[in-house]
Amino acid sequence: MDKIIIHGGKKLKGEVVISGSKNSALPILFATLLTDEPTTITNVPSLVDIDTTIAFLNFIGKKIVKKGNTVKTYSSYKYKHIAPYDLVRKMRASILIMGPLLSRLKKVDVSLPGGCSIGARPIDIHLDAFKKLGAEISVEGGYVKTFAKDGLKGAKIDFRFQSVGATENILLAAVLAKGKTTIINAACEPEIEDLANVLNKMGAKVAGMGTKKIVIEGVDVLHGFKHEVIPDRIEAATYIIAAAITKGEVTLKKVVPRHLKVVNDKLKKSGLCIKEMEDTISVKWVKNLKPQNVKTEVYPGFPTDVQAQWMVLMCLLSGKSQIEELVFENRFLPVAELQRFGADITINGKVVNIKGVEKFSGAPVMVSDLRAGAALVLAGLAAEGKTVVSRIYHLDRGYDMLEEKLKKLGAGIRRIHN
Ligand code: EPZ
Repeated sequence: MDKIIIHGGKKLKGEVVISGSKNSALPILFATLLTDEPTTITNVPSLVDIDTTIAFLNFIGKKIVKKGNTVKTYSSYKYKHIAPYDLVRKMRASILIMGPLLSRLKKVDVSLPGGCSIGARPIDIHLDAFKKLGAEISVEGGYVKTFAKDGLKGAKIDFRFQSVGATENILLAAVLAKGKTTIINAACEPEIEDLANVLNKMGAKVAGMGTKKIVIEGVDVLHGFKHEVIPDRIEAATYIIAAAITKGEVTLKKVVPRHLKVVNDKLKKSGLCIKEMEDTISVKWVKNLKPQNVKTEVYPGFPTDVQAQWMVLMCLLSGKSQIEELVFENRFLPVAELQRFGADITINGKVVNIKGVEKFSGAPVMVSDLRAGAALVLAGLAAEGKTVVSRIYHLDRGYDMLEEKLKKLGAGIRRIHN
């Protein structure tokens, strides 16, 4: 198993180009099932989750090829309607197969994805919505079997929670349904807007994306498209915090500053110097930062996917701070590992209380999930001495060329292949 070795204490300096968004590219790849015409998707990051999705779509019957950061799909004729456990368990986003296949084949059998380290992650919101669109659903042998003998019909759907995945799944189902679908309490993330823009390029009629009310008028057929995936705002936030935590000076290129407003506003309030231009963000540490409390919320609130990285920064600022995780039920996984660096953190239900410490000392640590892994790398960059990060396959799911980008910024970091 590969490991990452970090010799901390170096200030990051220079430029980093942000990759395309994992969480935008994934639903867009599933959207290619909605058409038999060729498609071209550019700015696709090179990640394990992208490779997993491409293998999955190939299994289903879509001819799909990735060369560099461009994915092309070709006309396909016959799709399988079964998504097996050994594929779905690798990546929860596989559940996005349901919308397109239910819509095209009127049936789909998907292995229940199961939970993951950050929570049980049920799919009740997805299934309730598919029922409203006319699907019959049964759970047998660990599979969710979904069938819409007369095809899907538009409906009014009111989400109990602004679920990102459920909003995407229903978008993917409703665009070819008969009649109008209205989603109330839809998720507003930029990745939802990117997917909806692709669907409209294909000939769909989607309005209201980026707001809590999305209206979809069903159409009969969807066409091929060319699309460039938006930049990854979570990767960008990770590098901004890396610059802050190492007291460095970094310019991020190919970003959308407005996608990071709440994070950058918090960092400016803490004393970090941030300049936002059209597609770049320049970050400079100029003085000791003041701790800031955050609570995670759906977009445009503070992103849960930046919570672990934020936690590490707060651990090294003098003073107290609090983080409340309101999106997932078990997302304080890096706490125990951060305590090995010397962090002073206590968990109290959905809240962690942090007392800043002078410094971290490098330590051997283990990654539990993607964003907790990013937090441990940040801790290693700031720590004195050597840090050895294991189980880094979690990181390879969501960070494109992590060590190469950090090394270019001056970090003492390398990967060893065991
Ligand atoms: C997406 O996951 C992202 N993944 C996650 O990023 C991100 O953390 C999350 O949205 C929240 O922003 C992708 O886009 C591939 P949700 P998703 O449905 O769609 C509960 C990363 O690190 N819920 O908005 O699964 C759920 O348990 C990943 O890149 C239900 O209860 O998130 C959770 O507590 C991690 N029932 C909350 O809602 C449902 O049917 C948010 O889930 C669906 C969700």
